[in-house]
Amino acid sequence: MSGPCHFVVFGALGHLVTTKLLPSLYHLELAGRLDEALGFVAFARRDWDTLRWRVHLNDVLAEQYGANLDKAAARRFVQRFEYVKGDYTNPAAYQHLLEQINTPRPGRCESVVFYLAIPPDDFIQVVRNLDEAGLNSVVGQHRIVVEKPFGTNLSSARALNAELHRHYREEQVFRIDHYLGKETVQNLLVFRFANSIIEPLWNRHYIDHVQITAAEESGIGERAGYFDHSGTLRDMVQSHLLQVLTLVAMEAPASLDADALRDEKVKVLRSIRKIPVDSLDDVALRAQYGAGEVNGAAVAAYRDEPGVPNDSNTESYAAIKFHVDNWRWQGVPFYLRSGKRLAARRTMVAIRFREPPHQLFCDTPCESMDPNWLVFAIQPEESIRFELYAREPGLSMTPRLLRIDTNYRAEHEQRLNAYATLLLDVIEGDRSLFIRFDEVEMAWQVIEPILEHWSQTSERLYTYAPGSWGPKETRVLFEKPNQSWRNEP
Ligand SMILES: NC(=O)c1ccc[n+]([C@@H]2O[C@H](COP(=O)([O-])OP(=O)(O)OC[C@H]3O[C@@H](n4cnc5c(N)ncnc54)[C@H](OP(=O)(O)O)[C@@H]3O)[C@@H](O)[C@H]2O)c1
Repeated sequence: MSGPCHFVVFGALGHLVTTKLLPSLYHLELAGRLDEALGFVAFARRDWDTLRWRVHLNDVLAEQYGANLDKAAARRFVQRFEYVKGDYTNPAAYQHLLEQINTPRPGRCESVVFYLAIPPDDFIQVVRNLDEAGLNSVVGQHRIVVEKPFGTNLSSARALNAELHRHYREEQVFRIDHYLGKETVQNLLVFRFANSIIEPLWNRHYIDHVQITAAEESGIGERAGYFDHSGTLRDMVQSHLLQVLTLVAMEAPASLDADALRDEKVKVLRSIRKIPVDSLDDVALRAQYGAGEVNGAAVAAYRDEPGVPNDSNTESYAAIKFHVDNWRWQGVPFYLRSGKRLAARRTMVAIRFREPPHQLFCDTPCESMDPNWLVFAIQPEESIRFELYAREPGLSMTPRLLRIDTNYRAEHEQRLNAYATLLLDVIEGDRSLFIRFDEVEMAWQVIEPILEHWSQTSERLYTYAPGSWGPKETRVLFEKPNQSWRNEP
């Protein structure tokens, strides 16, 4: 099958396109992965023409890549672009788009990709306008890429999906969660399913609990308009963290085929235990950062950030305990947490193994012996660390912690933006790393009781010091006295 002729970017002058999409597409150009036939259309409402857009694009690339910019690749890339000026709420604007799309491209190609890098409230309007302009063709399998968030709760996600399906078939829809484009997240699959020594340990008999952390050092910055309506549970847990949980917990798929992979992920989401309303406060905690000092500079409390109402109940931190009720994971808690203004920017999966059934070394200081850990640092560090015990050299039989550490990437290996992988998949029509609607639906079902509970009360909204690892109250989540958050990879 030949690839797309055109890749249309709605919201071409927005933050996501400028900081992520354009640099990633350039990277694909540099890697020789863009077919000669593929042209890009930047759709935006600024009164620009193609020439002006190309100047802008050159500036964006120069700022991102500086002296490392490959001039020949940049020239090729910039030449692929045309600019279409228009307000996407206006059906007439799509006529200009049609003209552009109807311009023949060199080489063999047959479809169009529409990337909606626009405010989520406008997704439906644009999809309807595309359809009206006849741009929903299934003949060349036109593709539509939808950014997150996919809905703000279960019913809005279902409504959005129903509307999308009125105009596009599921095979045409690519729902992005850029966490799945991260190489270190994909590595979870390879680590689990390419090493036969891992599988026998990967279950309730050997694993004590799993922690998934996505911590940010920064506050909400200028994003109050979006964030205060969303909160950490919607913004991070419903999408990214539950996706990572599925990769840790899923069974081996029959193949890497998109549906085989996603069938297994959905099974995990379906197995997550429903939390009874009267125990929600024991397993789901939320908090906001208070005012304080970070690296010697004063920082405002969440409620004092520009644009945040001073009675806002939106959580800048959430920590939740989930159980996956199936044969593999019965009794193994999954502790998930995410927050802003924490001690470090760090995303990681930490797996703690059970203690040995009998402690042979108890006349040595074995109280300080932490069980084995396997830690996947996802960002910004990228490593795998295994902690085991070995004998300390000397006259006594004393165990000593041995850290087997490996960087995920060798020094000469380039770090890819998560979007580069995903954009290439869109162009090549591979949907394995995109979210199927039943995954979205199940993820909303998992968190909706918590969302509803938190929306009904302002009680138990804790505060944490900026630059800390979150509120101390999350201690109640842990099921055993020797369980606690692991903050370092
Ligand atoms: N930014 C990120 O890092 C990030 C990460 C994950 C997901 N996302 C998702 O990506 C999407 C875009 O986010 P963003 O941060 O890039 O937002 P943004 O900076 O506000 O960009 C949105 C763009 O849409 C354009 N737009 C709005 N109304 C329009 C209209 N009627 N006609 C034509 N263009 C119009 C805006 O044009 P003007 O410039 O003319 O106002 C703006 O350039 C959202 O769904 C967001 O949730 C973003």
